[in-house]
Amino acid sequence: MKFFADTADIADIRELAEAGLVDGVTTNPSLIHKSGRDFMEVTREICGIVKGPVSAEVVATDHDAMMREAEILRKIADNIAVKVPLTIDGLKTCRKLTSDGTMVNVTLCFSANQALLAAKAGATFVSPFVGRHDDVGYPGMELIADIRLVYDNYDFRTEILVASVRNPIHVHDAAKLGADVMTAPPSVIRQLVKHPLTDNGLKAFLADWEKTGQKIG
Ligand code: E4P
Repeated sequence: MKFFADTADIADIRELAEAGLVDGVTTNPSLIHKSGRDFMEVTREICGIVKGPVSAEVVATDHDAMMREAEILRKIADNIAVKVPLTIDGLKTCRKLTSDGTMVNVTLCFSANQALLAAKAGATFVSPFVGRHDDVGYPGMELIADIRLVYDNYDFRTEILVASVRNPIHVHDAAKLGADVMTAPPSVIRQLVKHPLTDNGLKAFLADWEKTGQKIG
């Protein structure tokens, strides 16, 4: 499963990339707002750090205006994935862009039928939001299982990009279900490293090493 960092924070992206934990990046208007940075400038900077797909979202809602924004976004770098909402205009834009060879991430997916439409429109990625589903009392991971089943039934190539990931359990479940990608905030990716037995084991090894009075090198 590929790991995308769901952030526009450069320091976080750099740190995780150094550990080989960033196969791509997803941004959205809320994350750009949180970064306090200029959209084009920060997106260009991210594309320079990460070689994999970097999602940049259109904010227009009609097809022609989405296409105009997409033209600007796809010129930022070769690894831009234009992010469009799961609406009819978004799907039209997706079809047009992918037929021209541009990667497209269809976002705000909340049902398996919507994911089916994204695949039919030729999406590179579909982003089902699991955390927001959990928030309203529907188990978000059931959506991932449903989409995996539907895509496998018809051999769709669209990658399932699990979004709105809030905790390590989401990551674990996404991997078990065979999701292609998950995108998570850097804090959640860091949480994956943590295990009390690792911490306790390391503490004990270091204490015993100290007792040997030896040094390496
Ligand atoms: C990523 O592409 C999504 O925009 C993001 O994961 C949404 O996460 P949230 O529901 O925590 O805002």
